[in-house]
Amino acid sequence: MAKVQFNDVSFSYGDKKIIQNLSLEVNDGEIMGVIGPSGCGKTTLIRLLCGFIKPETGSIFIGETCVFDAKKRINIPPERRNIGVVFQDYAVWPHLTVLENVKYPLKKKRMDKKQMQEIAMNALKQVQMETYANHLPSQLSGGQQQRVAIARALVSSKELIVLDEPITNLDLKLRQEMLKEIREIQKTIGTTIVYISHDQEASLELCDRLAIMDQQGNIRQLGNDYDIVMKPKDRYIFEFVGISNFVDVVAKEDGVYINAQNGLVKLDDKSVLENPTKAYQLAFRPMDAVFDNESPIKGKVVTETFLGNITNYFIQLGDKQIRLQQSALDVMKYGKAKEGQEVGLKFVRKFYYEKEEA
Ligand SMILES: Nc1ncnc2c1ncn2[C@@H]1O[C@H](COP(=O)(O)OP(=O)(O)OP(=O)(O)O)[C@@H](O)[C@H]1O
Ligand SMILES: [Mg+2]
Repeated sequence: MAKVQFNDVSFSYGDKKIIQNLSLEVNDGEIMGVIGPSGCGKTTLIRLLCGFIKPETGSIFIGETCVFDAKKRINIPPERRNIGVVFQDYAVWPHLTVLENVKYPLKKKRMDKKQMQEIAMNALKQVQMETYANHLPSQLSGGQQQRVAIARALVSSKELIVLDEPITNLDLKLRQEMLKEIREIQKTIGTTIVYISHDQEASLELCDRLAIMDQQGNIRQLGNDYDIVMKPKDRYIFEFVGISNFVDVVAKEDGVYINAQNGLVKLDDKSVLENPTKAYQLAFRPMDAVFDNESPIKGKVVTETFLGNITNYFIQLGDKQIRLQQSALDVMKYGKAKEGQEVGLKFVRKFYYEKEEA
């Protein structure tokens, strides 16, 4: 197990700044998710960690070892950083069998053949791919190839594994299976895992903590699933993490008003917006608004769609259509609504953010 530390790391491709003064600490034995929009610098961060590219400033530690320091001119080469990596693009060598792929990193570590075979087969067992040892990658599904790549990462390092999740390759079910396996591996070996992903929901489930990056290559919020979901730091995080509704509100001296189907209605809370001269919006998730006939905030159901485990509604609220979702439990608790029906709405959880210029 090894902790990982980025201190004040910056990197540019040419004159394009990708990462700027980034600091991040991953604890020993932790699964740290790094998520963010495409092109924000996730893979760049991994390449810096692995030593394929060199930061302009700062330092990087793996465990107690300083693998890079710009000032002290330390730069340990990739092969000595002891990281198991699963790359985003080319997970496995196409011309080598599954077993040969997994053995590959061991060949550099002078080891007798029998021992190499044992270690490689053991890693394949851990990802449930031992029966495919003599297959070529082209004979495997994308998800199976990914498992082989994980087995190869496992033999490279028991300390630190970095996974740059492929965007394609894995369908939802396989991805979920993979995540379960990663969790199992982490539990049995205790490896520190840095997990790059595009799937916020799955990452929230898998990771101990998440670092959410923005398009400028900064970490906007670092926290566990509770922090990210219940205390999103700003509008960017709120929007990034799930389906979001935004409705204009008007701040008056006596409170906050919402633009509902029946005109401006005062929200039943005492929250005062920070700067009443600015335009604000109320933000809430589809599950965080419920039907309540007593509520003065009225909307009109535009569509109602039953999706099996949830019911999805689009509801007209002033000049906006909002999305509301009911779980089976919500249906029992608050009742269903029909298309065209007027409904009262209550917000069980809500946030206020400054309105963004269109
Ligand atoms: N070799 C390179 N030369 C120049 N620019 C590059 C190079 N590699 C990446 N970039 C640029 O650096 C930025 C960050 O790329 P990076 O691959 O780190 O993004 P990412 O967050 O991994 O995206 P994705 O989610 O699509 O994998 C992008 O704007 C990209 O175009
Ligand atoms: Mg990438």
